[in-house]
Amino acid sequence: MKIFLDTANIDEIKEAIEYGLIDGVTTNPTLISREQKDGKSFSDIVKEILKTVDGPVSIEVVATDYQGMIDQATKIHNLGPNAVIKIPMTLPGLKAMKTLSEKHIPVNCTLVFNAIQATLAARNGAEYVSPFVGRLDDIGEDGMEIINQIRTIYNNYSFKTKILVASVRNPVHVLRSMIIGADVITMPYDVIKKLAMHPKTDEGLSKFLSDWRKVAPDGSFPI
Ligand code: G3P
Repeated sequence: MKIFLDTANIDEIKEAIEYGLIDGVTTNPTLISREQKDGKSFSDIVKEILKTVDGPVSIEVVATDYQGMIDQATKIHNLGPNAVIKIPMTLPGLKAMKTLSEKHIPVNCTLVFNAIQATLAARNGAEYVSPFVGRLDDIGEDGMEIINQIRTIYNNYSFKTKILVASVRNPVHVLRSMIIGADVITMPYDVIKKLAMHPKTDEGLSKFLSDWRKVAPDGSFPI
């Protein structure tokens, strides 16, 4: 299972890479809009992320018609070999996914909210499908249930499309994704950091360090 960071913030990306926590990055227009400061353009932001990350980086088109999506996808694809084109789950989007996958341009089908949508994306050759689990939870559904359904359907029919769990809000989403067998989970940096944390770890470390002061009151390591 791979972990992607859901952000367009270059400092977060660099830090997560240093900790060895991530295999790729996903962005969306909302995340990019938060980084448009200091005169940085969309193109500057995206190029820097692509250069920094040694793995797939999803960048979303904002056209909603077929030809517009293809034109924007081609521009994004030309920015770097690790660019993955995010295309929304719409009818023109499905047509664009088919065209791009025939040209071996990787697509991440986004804004997926049920298993049938995910199946259509897989049939049309999407490399990744992004079901938004947190936004389903927000409206009183169990977002993780569709991950279960998609896994079963993809296994039943041997679809190679990777399930990329998106709109992840907490470590329980991550745990359930791993148990189901999702291929990738993308999440904000605060959720990734929480994966490494446990109050008993902090408590245990604090006890070890206080006991160590009996051995070396100045906190030194006398070897
Ligand atoms: O990038 C797509 C998805 O992860 C967005 O999540 O938290 O805005 O629902 P969220």
